[in-house]
Amino acid sequence: MPTPDSGALSALLDSEQALFAATHPRSRELYAAGQAHYLYGAPSHWMRRWAGGFPLYVERASGADLRCVDDRSYVDFCLGDSGGMCGHAHPAITDAVAAQLARGATFMMPTPDADWVGGELDRRFGVPYWGFTTSATDANRAAIRIARMVTERPKVLVFNGCYHGSVEEAHVALDGGRVVMRNGIHPNAVDHAQVSTVIEFNDLAALEAALASGDVACVLTEPVMTNYGMIEPEPGFLAALRALTEKTGTFLIIDETHTFSNGPGGYTAVHGLKPDILVLGKSVGGGIPVGLYGLAARTAERFWERVPKVNPAVIRQSSHLGFGGTLAGSALQVAAVRVVLERVLTAAAFAHMLELADVLAVGARALIEHAGLPWYVAHSGARVETLYAPVPPRNAGDVARGRDGVLEALLHVFFLNRGIVITPFHSMMLMCPATSRSDVDRYLAVLGEFIAALPRRATATGDPR
Ligand SMILES: Cc1ncc(COP(=O)(O)O)c(C=O)c1O
Repeated sequence: MPTPDSGALSALLDSEQALFAATHPRSRELYAAGQAHYLYGAPSHWMRRWAGGFPLYVERASGADLRCVDDRSYVDFCLGDSGGMCGHAHPAITDAVAAQLARGATFMMPTPDADWVGGELDRRFGVPYWGFTTSATDANRAAIRIARMVTERPKVLVFNGCYHGSVEEAHVALDGGRVVMRNGIHPNAVDHAQVSTVIEFNDLAALEAALASGDVACVLTEPVMTNYGMIEPEPGFLAALRALTEKTGTFLIIDETHTFSNGPGGYTAVHGLKPDILVLGKSVGGGIPVGLYGLAARTAERFWERVPKVNPAVIRQSSHLGFGGTLAGSALQVAAVRVVLERVLTAAAFAHMLELADVLAVGARALIEHAGLPWYVAHSGARVETLYAPVPPRNAGDVARGRDGVLEALLHVFFLNRGIVITPFHSMMLMCPATSRSDVDRYLAVLGEFIAALPRRATATGDPR
């Protein structure tokens, strides 16, 4: 590759953004109109984080195909940042959810589906006692509250670069050994150094030291970090994490909101992890807002010591636990999870998704290697990500050093202009059961075009999320 310069990259970004604006007049118009109604111009602040300068407004989607209001179609590898991992508008989900809506959506009373769903969650994820919430964020909050309630310790240990939703304790980053707020998040009148400990992923010495202090209620982690560039655990790291948490009486909360994409029972089942609490969300509801936290038997026993399972007082008077939600465990949610587990995210679907992710990763590596680019292709289960450093990152610090905001924005808008949607904030591609070999081939063809169009790059660092 000839030496790129950042000016040429910026010029190319400008011309790709101009092309995007010219070819998406209706989306641009709707976003302009949205400024009058929404704090962020669109219903959620995440929706403005698209490299074209404004989001695509979606007309409809089916499987991995998405059509925008400007009548252009896309292969969707973003899949609603994992919320759409079942594929859009899956007929079985549409039917089951519509049927439940017709029978009633929410009663604060269970439906018979609850029995099947509870059994299947246990069978797949290996933890027997479950609770519903309306988001993965809320499931993480519940898991943390249970850990604190049972251990009577104040702190949550998270890894630098983590994302677990809008969970207060996880809004932190590591700066020269100090706990600081992540990416300028307002501290919200919380002294985060009192409630959080943050260390780098894969740093066993730091983990051992942090847990030795005896004030950590739980470690909250993804088994593979997926939100700051994909960072894999080094061999033995997760086993050591389990051993150290066990030894120090610290709860291990495994957040599988994203890594469910590794198999029918998530990364936990594939790798035989033994979490005290396991968290799910996003895709498990097939588009209906669902979060789930599952407790290992020994965790539940300790929880019931604090909150007895059979307690006549609960029946006779109002009682709060501090988590849950009025619509948590609704008939609609339970019906959605049932159809997702029974008919959609099946073992066969995962086999297909994993195979395609493999094809994509191998193909992307070949293109990158052939061009002599110092990039790395991370791959875990049905997810693949291109990273802009030559070797796998060990932690968020490594990822930050390799990040280049202009290059990444350019990649995203370049792919959008050629009919491919990649997860914003980073460069991640997720497969769904409807993703096809030709979708993957299309991605690889555009990656080839992108590499050919790329002027030599300059390097910048920073927290892009
Ligand atoms: C690992 C992980 N946990 C939790 C969440 C929060 O999910 P939600 O925003 O649906 O609550 C996210 C969102 O990206 C996530 O990546």
